[in-house]
Amino acid sequence: MEKKYFIQVYGCQMNLHEAEKLAGMLEKMGYQKTQEPESASLIIYVTCCIRENAEQKVYGHLGALKPYKMANREVIVAVGGCMTQQSGAAEKLHKTFPFVDIIFGTHNLCDFERLLKEKENRKKTLIEITEVNSERECIPMKRDSYPNAWVNIIYGCNNFCTYCIVPYVRGRERSRKIDDVVNEVKSLVNDGYKEITLLGQNVNSYGNDAKGQEGYGDFADLINAIGENVKGDYRLRFMSSHPKDLTERLVQAVANNKNCCHSIHLPLQSGSTKVLKEMNRKYSREDYEAKVELIRKYMPDCAITTDVMVGFPGETDEDYNQTMEVMEKVNFASAFMFVYSPREGTPAARRVDQIDGEISKQRIMKMVAEQNDRTARHSKTYEGKIVTLLCEDFDDKKQMYMGRDEYGRMGYFETTENKIGQFVTIKVTKTVGISIYGEMI
Ligand code: SAH
Ligand code: SF4
Ligand code: F3S
Repeated sequence: MEKKYFIQVYGCQMNLHEAEKLAGMLEKMGYQKTQEPESASLIIYVTCCIRENAEQKVYGHLGALKPYKMANREVIVAVGGCMTQQSGAAEKLHKTFPFVDIIFGTHNLCDFERLLKEKENRKKTLIEITEVNSERECIPMKRDSYPNAWVNIIYGCNNFCTYCIVPYVRGRERSRKIDDVVNEVKSLVNDGYKEITLLGQNVNSYGNDAKGQEGYGDFADLINAIGENVKGDYRLRFMSSHPKDLTERLVQAVANNKNCCHSIHLPLQSGSTKVLKEMNRKYSREDYEAKVELIRKYMPDCAITTDVMVGFPGETDEDYNQTMEVMEKVNFASAFMFVYSPREGTPAARRVDQIDGEISKQRIMKMVAEQNDRTARHSKTYEGKIVTLLCEDFDDKKQMYMGRDEYGRMGYFETTENKIGQFVTIKVTKTVGISIYGEMI
């Protein structure tokens, strides 16, 4: 059978980037990528468990895969990512889908080549879930998102927000050395990548785990080091920023770096100080609003985007209204909005005052409607403006090229030339929802 792999990724950028690492490993082993699971000899699921529906999706897809695997026993099915790393999850997965050949945890990503070779010589399911933070810089990578590229700067999370599973499945914070990050960014820019996104669960705590050690510094030092050492025509972004760790020094570093986009993703989660405290977010509503002021002092044009949730245990109408107020006051350029989902093993899941699903539904619907209006209002301000987009893709449905401006706004335009990977200037002629449309000039 030809060596072909199919990877299905769920969840965040962290996982998308890890899939690029897996792909690099597999291509080195002689595998070729395929877009259809039915033509693959190796099928990998890189899973997410941030909310219940993320897990249900994985279970659904694995169920649908069963007949194919039964008819093609030689096909190897592997499941990795955050879901498998949860306590007891690998066993549950193995019980439900005994046909899965390899189950590997988030700390075993770079072991995958070895696991695959081991599996070739045995029949039984191979389960490898370790708690130790192993090597994560598996190279070569097979990047899949030109002209954008992700660069990990810090792994894991120490924050233990009471609703969140991530610290349990991604381990403690581990920062990479400044030079290693700078060199990776430099080589990406030399290779023609035009947008580099620095990744971490909380980029603002970069370096905290290696304070005083040679070769490390804080996130502002890292931004400055990239600015000094990597010159060129590219954009620099980062995500996510925990508000508690956003310092004036960092905002200054971002404002002074001419490659840094004036765009910051600053998850609010809730606008109620009471709820924030119960979430263990370590900031109040006022602290959050002060951070927004700080950003706008140095970058008045900065687009601030956010993550927010409704239905956290004990959330009253008053708490919810406070979130709605902050959203309106900050005037977020866009927002990811979620219904709280209890995650087994987290403190919030053990609370007895869980919110009724119907109430959460009402709350999220109203929130989404208001934010959609706000997002559309932001788009409206673009009408007639000249905007620079980094062209990322061709949209088959619209038959138009698509790109983003420095604030992350999606823009569409027509041209007969392939513009992917180039900065393109357009005059905005129309706006719809979160998107802008224009003519190339
Ligand atoms: N590290 C990032 C967030 C990663 S998870 C940060 O702190 O900003 C992305 C988002 O998912 C979170 O910001 C939060 O809004 C949401 N989320 C996390 N756990 C959740 C849960 N149990 N239920 C619903 N949404 C959740
Ligand atoms: Fe989860 Fe909080 Fe860590 Fe973000 S900062 S990953 S929300 S625990
Ligand atoms: Fe990301 Fe989901 Fe894991 S959001 S870190 S893939 S739980």
